[in-house]
Amino acid sequence: MVDAINQDGQHAVIFGERGVGKTSLSNIIATKLRAGGRADVSAPDALAPKVTCESSDTFASLWRKVLSEIDLIKKKAAIGFHMTVFEETKTAAEVVGDEPTPDDIRRLLTLIGGDRLVYIVIDEFDRLVEPATKRAVADTIKTFSDHAVPTTIIVVGVSDSVDALIAEHESIERCLVQIPMPRMSPDESAQILTTGGKKLKIVFSPDAVNQIVGLSQGLPHYTHLLALHAVRSCIDRKGEEVTSDDVNVAVKKAVENAQQSLKATYYKAVTSPRKDALHGNVLLACALAEPDQFGYFAAGDVREPLSRIMGREYDFAGYAKHLREFGGTERGEVLLRTGVKHKFRFRFRNPLMQPHVIMQGLVDKRIDQVTLQEIIGHRGV
Ligand SMILES: Nc1ncnc2c1ncn2[C@@H]1O[C@H](COP(=O)(O)OP(=O)(O)OP(=O)(O)O)[C@@H](O)[C@H]1O
Ligand SMILES: [Mg+2]
Repeated sequence: MVDAINQDGQHAVIFGERGVGKTSLSNIIATKLRAGGRADVSAPDALAPKVTCESSDTFASLWRKVLSEIDLIKKKAAIGFHMTVFEETKTAAEVVGDEPTPDDIRRLLTLIGGDRLVYIVIDEFDRLVEPATKRAVADTIKTFSDHAVPTTIIVVGVSDSVDALIAEHESIERCLVQIPMPRMSPDESAQILTTGGKKLKIVFSPDAVNQIVGLSQGLPHYTHLLALHAVRSCIDRKGEEVTSDDVNVAVKKAVENAQQSLKATYYKAVTSPRKDALHGNVLLACALAEPDQFGYFAAGDVREPLSRIMGREYDFAGYAKHLREFGGTERGEVLLRTGVKHKFRFRFRNPLMQPHVIMQGLVDKRIDQVTLQEIIGHRGV
């Protein structure tokens, strides 16, 4: 990202699963742009307007939001004897008019970017529904690149690939730095705990770290959530070390307080009129199947965790029906299926569902901590 910002004609796209830290990365980039190599100073006069897309946005509304964050005449407060005088300020949005074209934007930013470092973050790009709007943003990137406009555009969005995010990306391939944002590694998740623990002057036992890291599945949202509840439990009992028991309390809290939408989808996915129905256990096995860096697993990856949960061998025929049903509306479309027959790959439609299913499995005693660690432990710290 820093390279893209420092090189004229280069732009960037950050893409990955929901909740892996894309927005956070784009927010901290200013701290990585060092002025003159001095580590303690961020870039002088950097201008970093940021816009979060909404489904209703058009190219014009998007750029109005970006440009309204750019003041063209600096505000100056001149303090006289009797009054304070402010110079008139116009935002860039007022200058370009209601329906700016990519070319208008280019000319304006050529002027603005001349003496300042400018990078524009367009977050939640996947929310745009109009293909014309996405295309116009791609055109703008192309125009900026062709004319070496001194402004970097950084597109951020939920997606497995750049293709899916920016359909027109081929024409801008060479000027677009592609930054896939993976899930956090176990070490990185563990760092969240160490860093937070230092600030609080509290330590996490190795078991507690392993448990939280394992349950978070590389999604920092859950690392924060479980750490919060576990630390509270530790403080409530006046302890000095967060233990496995504190994490168990945290898991209960996290499941109880989960978003209503997560709970509703889970309920829909596993509830069956028949008593012997296997849906809850198959879904848990799916959550325990080892995913690739984008959260996908194959049908075959479910076999081992399911056999462990059920205490006897299962083969594909035993759960094929369930996997298929999880993709349907009757089961809340909890899983998403891609690929071709015999090579289907699956993932949880909402990545936050996967840790939720595992934690619900612990609370419902479908699985115990020991078995859980045996299955996912080797992916642990
Ligand atoms: N490097 C990090 N260290 C610690 N916590 C992080 C880090 N990155 C992200 N987080 C935390 O993880 C959570 C999700 O991060 P963020 O909102 O940036 O993800 P996102 O990929 O933009 O999500 P979405 O796809 O929903 O837009 C936030 O609570 C954030 O504070
Ligand atoms: Mg985000």
